[in-house]
Amino acid sequence: MPKTTVRAGSNIAFIKYWGVADAAINLPLNSSISMTLADAHTTTTVEWDQSGRLAEDAITLDRQPLTGQAAARLARHLDRIRDLTGMTWRARVVSENNFPMAAGIASSASGFAALSVAGCLAAGLNLEPGALSALARLGSGSACRSLFGGFVLWDRGDDHETSIARPLFPPDHWDLYDVVAVVSRAAKTVSSEGGHRLAQTSALNACRVAQAEQALPLVRQAIAERDLAALGPILEQDALAMHAVMMTSTPGLFYWQPGTVEIIHAVRQWRTDGLEVYFTVDAGPNVHLMCAAEDAPAVQTCLAALASVQDVLVSRPGPGPLCSEDHLF
Ligand code: PMV
Repeated sequence: MPKTTVRAGSNIAFIKYWGVADAAINLPLNSSISMTLADAHTTTTVEWDQSGRLAEDAITLDRQPLTGQAAARLARHLDRIRDLTGMTWRARVVSENNFPMAAGIASSASGFAALSVAGCLAAGLNLEPGALSALARLGSGSACRSLFGGFVLWDRGDDHETSIARPLFPPDHWDLYDVVAVVSRAAKTVSSEGGHRLAQTSALNACRVAQAEQALPLVRQAIAERDLAALGPILEQDALAMHAVMMTSTPGLFYWQPGTVEIIHAVRQWRTDGLEVYFTVDAGPNVHLMCAAEDAPAVQTCLAALASVQDVLVSRPGPGPLCSEDHLF
């Protein structure tokens, strides 16, 4: 069985996935749209142990052996591949992120995308892209979008087979930048996995879901026309609506830190001053600033002046998963 290495990019959603209709298969309440990132990615090497000597999956993440719940979550994903192939071998998995895991960039998206593709290929299982997207979704919902490059739509669907992502536009369609302002590196106290289950406890949830579905064709059109002035207000509104749902769930989730609010105010002021930049925030305190390529240096300069910004990461739209011969072991 060949050792297989795959690199997959993370993604940033313009219309968010928040809340599950069926938690067992990460069936979302609404469809979502994202951009796959070129400069924030996970590389994963998988080898199935045909000798049968390995008693359990041996997983190393960012040079540390993975244990406990995190290891169990990845082993469950490897079980899904074992179920598809009928094989019982354990796997050796080594995985590396090129960005700090707590930087507010979804490492689960790139991680489960890379693991799904590498795990299947290493097992000689050639699934078509839609089936790979569905498999990745079982690991982490947003991972199904990282199966494709550029600008991606995840159709909510009705079941495991139909809730899959597909590409809308390739990465070179629009040189849109994601400038990530890191305000905290602390690990989240509530994982997004847990948060999705709470969404329906918020009275605002049904409104957000309806608004998100209405916004999808507008976002798609704005991307088609490379129209940041049309896209920006919608992505800000959707991020704020998602955080309103989080804050008003039972128990309430509050991911923002003072730095989050400082940046949101600053972005609004920079826009008034003529810099075209918009914000979105995932399940964490860090803020993603979307702007045209030519404005990215100015956005970085503006961020450098804010006391709460600890670090800045910059990414362009990137490709879908890529195979590599540079194995990690
Ligand atoms: O795939 P998860 O369970 O990590 O959920 C991701 C949720 C958000 O990042 C907040 C939104 C999204 O659509 O990526």
